[in-house]
Amino acid sequence: MSRYDTDGDGHGPDGANGSHGHAVEVSETPTGRHAARLTDDPFADPGRLPHEPRRTDVDAQARRRAERQVATMFGLSTLAAIGFVVAFVAIDKDAFVSLPLFGEIGAQNLAFGLFLGLSLLLIGTGVIHWSRKLMTSPEIVEERHSLRSPEPDRESAAAAVKEGAEESTLGRRPFLIGGSLVGALGAATVAPLITLRDLGPLPEKKLRHTAWAEQHQIVFEHSNLPIRAVDVPIGAMITAKPKDVEDLNELAKAVILILRLEPDQIQNARQLELGYEGIFAFSKICTHVGCPIGLYERETHHLLCPCHQSTFDVLNGARVIFGPAARSLPQLPINVDDAGFLVAEGDFDQPVGPSFWERG
Ligand code: FES
Repeated sequence: MSRYDTDGDGHGPDGANGSHGHAVEVSETPTGRHAARLTDDPFADPGRLPHEPRRTDVDAQARRRAERQVATMFGLSTLAAIGFVVAFVAIDKDAFVSLPLFGEIGAQNLAFGLFLGLSLLLIGTGVIHWSRKLMTSPEIVEERHSLRSPEPDRESAAAAVKEGAEESTLGRRPFLIGGSLVGALGAATVAPLITLRDLGPLPEKKLRHTAWAEQHQIVFEHSNLPIRAVDVPIGAMITAKPKDVEDLNELAKAVILILRLEPDQIQNARQLELGYEGIFAFSKICTHVGCPIGLYERETHHLLCPCHQSTFDVLNGARVIFGPAARSLPQLPINVDDAGFLVAEGDFDQPVGPSFWERG
């Protein structure tokens, strides 16, 4: 074994690479290799801050006051525990009390909870106060140990790995056993992937399309009656759906909100294009995680999702102005049929509902 200081240029006296400015110890392992380790600590000891005595360390009166406080807390805890026993004996277990917010609750259970909770709380606060104010408070130093294992342990671990490799006979016919083992491990890893089929069938185009199609009549959600355009008042919000669609999954995607606004208030040309004389149809499904949007502020013309407060501006293409939703509400292009009833002119202008992997 040899020991020397590196000179700061990265090379020891014999030309071996060293660590800048630190003492290095080099030893020879049983396998004939050389091992080097730093023998000094590369991090300077920052030392200890001077000990700051607490008030209770230097002021006898403060100390006595803290002792009294701790004893008072423990004493009150004892009284609360006695109160628990008294409550058990004195309160009828069928008695009830009425509390605001909680309603009717058993009087005995209430007393048990209060007394026991108070008793434990006072023990806890008393112990904390005792330890912070009265127990000794020395700064404790714990020496940092090297994370590197001792050299004999490292050598015996390396020898064990080598011995294991020799005993496995892998070295003699590496391709026969090693190759087949790799194949078996690979197959065992890949085989469970077949279970991913159970996640199917793939959604294909279902995420992008709904039941709406050209000339599909728009009807009221509950009455199933068609909606005449002239009957939609300004400021109203009507929940509607496509006529004759019974499949609940399809209905859930296709449900819309019909709103009538003054056309000259609209700031979005595309919105005007998809609407009919100030009547607009937006998806009722929030683009955050799919809650039904249920609130319309007539004054501000904002649609609000009650789940996480995403807010959409219906004067501007139902774009998001607040909340976690990442994109505008999809708009359904609408028109009227020969009888003046609202119909769709096609499907939504973008996928409805929560954003999925291809949607921002
Ligand atoms: Fe609408 Fe979250 S689902 S804000």
